[in-house]
Amino acid sequence: MKSVLRGIGSYVPDKILDNHELSLRVDTSDEWIRTRTGIIERRIAAPEQSTSELARIAAQKAINSAKIKPEQIDLVIVATITPDMAFPSTACILQHQLGLGKVACFDLEAACSGFLYSLDVADGMLASGRYKCALVIGAEKMSSILDWEDRKTCVLFGDGAGAAIVMTDGEGPHLMGFRSGADGSNPSLLHQPAGGSKMPASISSVENREHFLKMNGKEIFKSAVRVMEKATRELLEANGLRTKQVDHVIPHQANFRIVESMAQRLEIPIEKFFCNLELHGNTSAASIPIAFDEACQKGIFRKGEMGVLVAFGAGLTWSATLVRF
Ligand code: UT7
Repeated sequence: MKSVLRGIGSYVPDKILDNHELSLRVDTSDEWIRTRTGIIERRIAAPEQSTSELARIAAQKAINSAKIKPEQIDLVIVATITPDMAFPSTACILQHQLGLGKVACFDLEAACSGFLYSLDVADGMLASGRYKCALVIGAEKMSSILDWEDRKTCVLFGDGAGAAIVMTDGEGPHLMGFRSGADGSNPSLLHQPAGGSKMPASISSVENREHFLKMNGKEIFKSAVRVMEKATRELLEANGLRTKQVDHVIPHQANFRIVESMAQRLEIPIEKFFCNLELHGNTSAASIPIAFDEACQKGIFRKGEMGVLVAFGAGLTWSATLVRF
């Protein structure tokens, strides 16, 4: 039994923050950001828009595209590192906002790999036979945890949400296999130090800017290329496929240089990689479903083609999904 992506939808906020505007806030330039990352602009949520609000709009679009009734949904998973609050889960908040039944809801925290981890988990729960229709969402308000005085990180991220309806029957891309993993040996490579039980909020944690995202960009870059290549190879091998047989890759949209390096190492032509990071930056768990939705809208997939969705993120986590369109 293979899960089917019955519908997909995405939403990004209206406000565009381009590199030029950013260069008025921090010591950076359009040229530096473009050449080092490929990013030109990103979307920023309004102050009153929380992650659940971004998720709700994307979810409604996915429900419409799947042509199902909201009452059919019996499982909600929200992948996010920027939940509305520590608890309750953003998935529970969203259940009420969408007027769903009193169904199972939880958040999944695997950073930028979160959406693909969630597909992996939803597929397993659907295969158990205990659930029939999953709403899987990646949603982030990254602007709420960025240090707008740190040019090394604030230029990289954006806000948005993408959602999918996953069922075990019907028409749509089939989810053929998954490969998820993690290496927890060096959590401080990419983290938000304060606000949890290790460093609860205090005057000094705020004064020291510990509630913002911190990253060792160089190390993350190297790990990203390595783990996404490995996850892709292992996924293909487990499903009896070679890299030549891949028609499309939708990679995590973090940095175009990471995508280029991965393409080279996998010997998959760069033209097969779908990228939209120039318009959105890195939207963390939302990046893959937003890219997937935009690629669908552009009509780039043909029936029967094979695709790989692959992501890496804080943890470090990684996850790859094989799709037959
Ligand atoms: O979802 C996972 C999220 N994270 C990532 O994907 C990040 C992965 N890493 C990267 O994408 C890259 O490492 C970055 C884009 C973050 C940085 O690119 P880099 O080529 O590794 O640059 P760097 O960190 O080596 O910095 C080079 C120089 C430094 O100046 P000095 O020390 O050589 O004088 C930085 O201070 O560039 C400087 N720099 C900037 N200059 C202008 C760093 N950020 C900026 C900036 N504007 N925004």
